[in-house]
Amino acid sequence: MLVTKQPVLRRFWYALMPITHLDDGPKPFTLLGEDLVVWKQSDGTPAALRDRCCHRTARLSEGWVNEAGHITCGYHGWQYDCSGACVKIPQLTSEKIPPGAKVPSFRCVEKYGYVWVALEEPLAGIPDFPEDGQPGYRRIFQFYQEWQTSPVRVMENSFDNSHFSFVHKANFGLLEQPRPAPYEFRETDYGFEAITTVPIRNPESSHRVTGTTEPVTDRHLVNRYYLPFCRRFGCSYPASGVDHIIYNCATPIDDGRIMLVQWLYRNDSEESCSTQALIDWDAAITAEDRDILEATDPDACIDTRRKVEFHMPSDQPGLIIRRQLMALLTAHGEAEVFRT
Ligand code: FES
Ligand SMILES: [Fe+2]
Repeated sequence: MLVTKQPVLRRFWYALMPITHLDDGPKPFTLLGEDLVVWKQSDGTPAALRDRCCHRTARLSEGWVNEAGHITCGYHGWQYDCSGACVKIPQLTSEKIPPGAKVPSFRCVEKYGYVWVALEEPLAGIPDFPEDGQPGYRRIFQFYQEWQTSPVRVMENSFDNSHFSFVHKANFGLLEQPRPAPYEFRETDYGFEAITTVPIRNPESSHRVTGTTEPVTDRHLVNRYYLPFCRRFGCSYPASGVDHIIYNCATPIDDGRIMLVQWLYRNDSEESCSTQALIDWDAAITAEDRDILEATDPDACIDTRRKVEFHMPSDQPGLIIRRQLMALLTAHGEAEVFRT
């Protein structure tokens, strides 16, 4: 599936960047092939416009934010508000601003410390992270990384229990136990919930993360898939009671790149396991996933009637993701434009 060829994907919210990235001025971001400028207004809320001035097409992301919180083009100083309307042309004296002097604007909000954008009327809200702000949980921004892969690949990999023994064999994977733990599924209005318990290797270097010293321990997983490209990895370690809950947004940049956004919520303290230790531990795992996903074809085939890709019985989550994406695309009349 080439994401930029599926207009319905423009009708979802995507996490673009930490809101703090806007503290020193406007930033560019490409979402589904659409070049955007994102900036922070004077009230602290973010705004997003197409990254093209309507005067001589200069990128607005090369400009700055003025005292009124308007984005100012760096070429001739035209100023725009969050609706995209040009509110000042410095070269004019008494003449009116032409009514057509406008740049396309996009829905833009801040949530969970990130800037989120929906390019068109959203079909669903931003996924709910119930741990965010809940007493006892800390939020850690783990990753904000560009990957050369497709968001479909990231989603299917997120629920794929049969890659642990191989991709993560040097880490938590049990090479001698390649048969994946089965899931219990419940389809929902946002996608699905998948529950399972997975045994993992627990070397000494993992003890502070898992909260236990058993050489092999269990992960209880309450995972969720949120159409089209968000997921929850709801991991609890029953032996210690530690929660290690990850949310990812595989924000589609274009047909070959995503921005991998990862939040972690933990119900322990900095003293029991430091933020840096948690980032480093997940970084080693995430790097293994990144390497293998960047080795796959980013044009992931979601039409399971086509024999483009083989599937195992344990690929059931990936097949549900494909079926739900196909249903979404078909409902919006856009399922016939795949390269594969
Ligand atoms: S190109 Fe932006 S003001 Fe001229
Ligand atoms: Fe993995």
